[in-house]
Amino acid sequence: MSTAKNDSILIVGAGVFGLSTALELNKRGYTDITVVDRFVPPSADGSSVDISRIIRADYADPIYYKMAREAYKGWTTEYKDQYFESGFALFSETPKNKYMEGSKSVIRAAGGHLDELPDASDIRKLYPSVQANVAGMSGYHNPKGGWADAAGSIQKLASKCTVAGISIIAGPRGTVTSLRKAGSRVVGVNLVRGQVLLASQVILSTGAWTNRLLNIGHAASSSGQPVGFIQLTEEEALEYKKIPVMINMSSGVFSFPPTPDTNVLKLARHGYGYATEMNVDVDGEKKSLSSPKFESSNAATGYLPDDADESLRQGLRQFFPKLGDRPWLNRRLCWYTDTPKGDFIIDHHPTMQGLFLATGGAGHGFKFLPILGQYIADCFEGKAPENLRQKWKLNLPKDDAKGPMAGDGSRGGPPLRRLSPLEQAKL
Ligand SMILES: Cc1cc2nc3c(=O)[nH]c(=O)nc-3n(C[C@H](O)[C@H](O)[C@H](O)COP(=O)(O)OP(=O)(O)OC[C@H]3O[C@@H](n4cnc5c(N)ncnc54)[C@H](O)[C@@H]3O)c2cc1C
Ligand SMILES: *[C@@H]1O[C@H](CO)[C@@H](O)[C@H](O)[C@H]1NC(C)=O
Repeated sequence: MSTAKNDSILIVGAGVFGLSTALELNKRGYTDITVVDRFVPPSADGSSVDISRIIRADYADPIYYKMAREAYKGWTTEYKDQYFESGFALFSETPKNKYMEGSKSVIRAAGGHLDELPDASDIRKLYPSVQANVAGMSGYHNPKGGWADAAGSIQKLASKCTVAGISIIAGPRGTVTSLRKAGSRVVGVNLVRGQVLLASQVILSTGAWTNRLLNIGHAASSSGQPVGFIQLTEEEALEYKKIPVMINMSSGVFSFPPTPDTNVLKLARHGYGYATEMNVDVDGEKKSLSSPKFESSNAATGYLPDDADESLRQGLRQFFPKLGDRPWLNRRLCWYTDTPKGDFIIDHHPTMQGLFLATGGAGHGFKFLPILGQYIADCFEGKAPENLRQKWKLNLPKDDAKGPMAGDGSRGGPPLRRLSPLEQAKL
């Protein structure tokens, strides 16, 4: 049942889940680890990349709060060159937004400091250069938080992996079309050009693409979330240099301060997103499911559905009124791996031996990069406490009715919308 230290381990997917697992298993003495991916990390269209991710400990769930505090130690030491402590401000049109109230009480119970903003306009007392139109909203500010250079952090993590002796294979020889099975045991993977990679243990950390390899429609689904980038001039970047990461919990739209040196401003929406309808052969069965494209990069076209573009544009006008009509430098849908309550899926497959899953990031996994591998390796080795094993368990299809994958109550904006075939063709 358990994996020996010299057994071959094949990790599919070189995002934050896969690479952090690889590095931690290597630290624990596993000597034969290979990570494969469609693209070289930082993967062009992975969920763990581009210029930024929010780093926050603001959670209504005490477990993720505790993990985020542990990760924060990593961001302020080992990953300090990738981390920017801008502060984090949350606003809502609804007084006593449930998620924000939950988060405040979790932080206070742990002795953390917050600035209450019953009138959100008071954010300007802390950050005079904020120009956002937040009249009528309430909120709070947490000075401990900010953002990380996502692609840069993944690059650093991937580099640590190869230095430690882990192999990383990218491109067609790392692109997996299906699991290779012998009876109910997974013995490796089949690659896109017909080759095979055999392994004693296969770990799927394939993010939003996981449902193409394995029938997990009851436990996870994939949604595209809009992201837009704006090029600022040097002078504009200076003007907005000292602003926090801001999220409008009513619309789900959030923004980052401009990137140092490159002066790029980013907005995205933490919402219910967009679904595609793809016909895929999953583990021998024909399925229709929502998934990003597999064969080519989902970041290549720069296409956003019109309503997604419009909601980011509105967010831009509300957060940065002076930049409201500035054309996008780039846009894309970034893919979440949604789960019913926003909990990760970190578990041995209940019926297929030799298969372990580490996925289900549900729009909030990146911030755990410095410590995620430890939690995953504990589950892999059967050392994780019972509450975590239950929380991140992969249920059998019959255990769970297929319901909405709405996450943890932190999202805003309109419900999930299925793209029309015409829209989908433009992705
Ligand atoms: C727009 C957006 C904003 C977000 N904001 C935040 C945030 O502010 N803070 C935060 O903490 N989290 C955030 N998240 C969530 C976080 O980024 C994800 O939870 C996390 O990156 C998921 O990592 P992953 O390793 O599961 O997936 P990925 O990084 O996508 O890694 C999966 C990899 O598997 C590869 N792969 C898939 N299938 C195959 C195959 N068959 N063969 C070979 N390779 C394969 C893919 O190429 C990919 O590189 C955000 C996500 C998005 C999309
Ligand atoms: C926040 O979102 C709500 C709902 O979409 C919107 O009415 C409001 O203007 C937004 N405010 C800001 C500052 O983004």
